[in-house]
Amino acid sequence: MDYTFKTEGLYRRFKSGSETVVALNDVNIEIPKNKLSILRGPSGSGKTTLINILGALDRPSEGKVFLEDVEITKMSDVRRDAIRRTKCGFIFQSVALMSNMTAFENVDFGLRIAGSNKSRKKRAEECLKQVGLAKRMTHRPQELSGGEQQRVAIARAISHRPQVLFADEPTAELDTQTGLQVVRLFKALVEQEGITVVMTTHDVNMMEVADYVFNLEDGVVLDGQQR
Ligand SMILES: Nc1ncnc2c1ncn2[C@@H]1O[C@H](COP(=O)(O)OP(=O)(O)OP(=O)(O)O)[C@@H](O)[C@H]1O
Ligand SMILES: [Mg+2]
Repeated sequence: MDYTFKTEGLYRRFKSGSETVVALNDVNIEIPKNKLSILRGPSGSGKTTLINILGALDRPSEGKVFLEDVEITKMSDVRRDAIRRTKCGFIFQSVALMSNMTAFENVDFGLRIAGSNKSRKKRAEECLKQVGLAKRMTHRPQELSGGEQQRVAIARAISHRPQVLFADEPTAELDTQTGLQVVRLFKALVEQEGITVVMTTHDVNMMEVADYVFNLEDGVVLDGQQR
């Protein structure tokens, strides 16, 4: 088994009034393990919907999701919550840091939520060092650049050693250079920590860093290409 996620006949339909939007339309993909995969496609093509379903934030209308060889779509909400908390990390377009907490406190807080109480301080420091913020631990978000804030969010998302890191448009609010730094950091995590990264982006400049690119259109995955 060389995939982290596999989907079978995945559909997600949203009802709004009398209309039904088919956000995912028979998606059958394998997300390779220990690789950086990019989901790419126009606005509304289903990227966020797919990430939310893989990360057990949402359930499909139809179809199956396997995390390694375990089907997560048939699990109870309680088990899915546990998997999401322990095995997944999330990063979003708008960095959602606590504005009244320092970089260190933000990561420490994330670890506390993930249920960690042993050697939290050491781990929080380690993660901030890993993202190149050793000298910014006591800065609050407003004292950090956009790229630095996103790196704090990454430190927080990897602090509990997730198996998978989901990043939905993590570079959208950054300039190309800073965005590339963030994606290269993902690549380093893939190579050094064996994490699987699934990220979405519109930015063609990011494609060169990816191991795999999946192209979506109207809820259909057109193809998955190895780079
Ligand atoms: N909760 C919802 N209710 C109704 N329709 C929804 C809901 N969430 C998403 N959709 C629809 O599903 C489709 C896919 O949305 P999704 O957010 O996955 O797109 P996306 O590829 O992430 O787009 P973007 O690049 O703009 O973020 C869109 O047509 C959207 O309007
Ligand atoms: Mg989206």
